[in-house]
Amino acid sequence: MSGFFKSSIGRKVAMALSAFFLMFFLLQHFAINILSVLSPDAFNEVSHFMGTNPLIQYGLQPVLIFGVVFHFVMGFILELKNKKAQGVAYVKNNGTANSTWMSRNMIWSGVAILAFVVLHFIDFWFPEINTKFIQGDWSGTIEGVEGFRYYEELTHKFVSPIRVSAYVIAFVFLGLHLMHGFTSAFQSMGATAGRKQRLQNIGKAYSIIIPLGFIIIALYHHFNH
Ligand code: HEM
Repeated sequence: MSGFFKSSIGRKVAMALSAFFLMFFLLQHFAINILSVLSPDAFNEVSHFMGTNPLIQYGLQPVLIFGVVFHFVMGFILELKNKKAQGVAYVKNNGTANSTWMSRNMIWSGVAILAFVVLHFIDFWFPEINTKFIQGDWSGTIEGVEGFRYYEELTHKFVSPIRVSAYVIAFVFLGLHLMHGFTSAFQSMGATAGRKQRLQNIGKAYSIIIPLGFIIIALYHHFNH
């Protein structure tokens, strides 16, 4: 197993697999969040289920956190190895001659997303952990709010124009990162020529629709509060 991670191809396949896992997470995260625009009641119900179901809390959540950390750490390792390899003439990166701007800057769009995830955890995840695991309150309710509290808490986070701008900028970086990430992940998984074009098109559509959808959610709550 350690031999797998030591080989360049092994690392790339591991990176691609963790990327696909995170893309799947992002899709379900978007599907739930768009409910906050379409039906606040449905958003509250689903959030309460996700936030209190033991299988999700103790099974999937740790797997997700591991996936996020793994993807970032592996990304940095790949970047360092690539930088070293640039000293070797035959794999030299000739700038625009043999690579796109985005492919050479995956690490920077990745760092921008990492900064967003830190802000996002401070906004949403840490308060959830505090309410449930430290205060021990799993009711999903709060004083002064009828029904579940999740919709109310979410809309509060999109009042500040500074935070909304930070979110929107991060989603643009996310789109750029996904756009190249898809191409790269399919290549690492050895997508064959015939299927390749269709897969690339699905990847492109995903990379535009999902970040744009998140931007719409953030702006919708900002202007409708
Ligand atoms: C407008 C856009 C978004 C909104 C409104 C939103 C909302 C939320 C909320 C309410 C939670 C708390 C879930 C909980 O109870 O633990 C959460 C968690 C999380 N979000 Fe987002 N999110 C957005 C975009 C994103 C994006 C683009 C990413 C990834 C790049 C992301 C990654 C995460 C992660 C990793 C968690 C922790 C999941 C967990 O284990 O609970 N979110 N988000």
